[in-house]
Amino acid sequence: MPFPKEVRTLSAEKTENIGRELASEILNDTSLPRFVALFGDLGVGKTAFVRGFTSEIAPNARVKSPTFALVNEYKGERLSVFHFDMYRIEDEDELYSIGFYDYLDRRGVCLTEWSENIEESLPESYVRVEITKDDPTSPDSRSISIELVGIKK
Ligand SMILES: Nc1ncnc2c1ncn2[C@@H]1O[C@H](COP(=O)(O)OP(=O)(O)O)[C@@H](O)[C@H]1O
Ligand SMILES: [Mg+2]
Repeated sequence: MPFPKEVRTLSAEKTENIGRELASEILNDTSLPRFVALFGDLGVGKTAFVRGFTSEIAPNARVKSPTFALVNEYKGERLSVFHFDMYRIEDEDELYSIGFYDYLDRRGVCLTEWSENIEESLPESYVRVEITKDDPTSPDSRSISIELVGIKK
């Protein structure tokens, strides 16, 4: 499916599937950014998306929210996945102290939860994923929009 994409999911598993598909596209197309910025409130399914994404690249990894660690690293055969939670990040100094900029140069894909907190520090090009609860009468329904920023495809 070409970018931008707009999909609706009705379960965490479906959201994981969308994450897995994106990982497969990134693995197969080296012109795509290896940086995925996730946006959306608590409980919308950002970690679920990362879990599905990671299952394509590092199938043995157990993906958990890195809220306290700030970053989890999952090693795959071809690439690693660096999974950040920016919930507590307040300024650029903190980004430096967790080594954020060093990860950008490593052989892997970065995914950031709570990208709202680091919008100014996002790389020049990235995949923007925004997840929203789109239907108050259907608690498991989510809209997921996926677009490329800083690159045309
Ligand atoms: N369509 C859906 N997509 C993703 N998660 C869903 C969906 N429907 C229900 N859920 C539930 O919402 C919660 C999402 O949790 P999580 O992925 O940790 O969110 P976040 O990382 O955004 O805080 C999980 O309990 C999951 O089972
Ligand atoms: Mg999370």
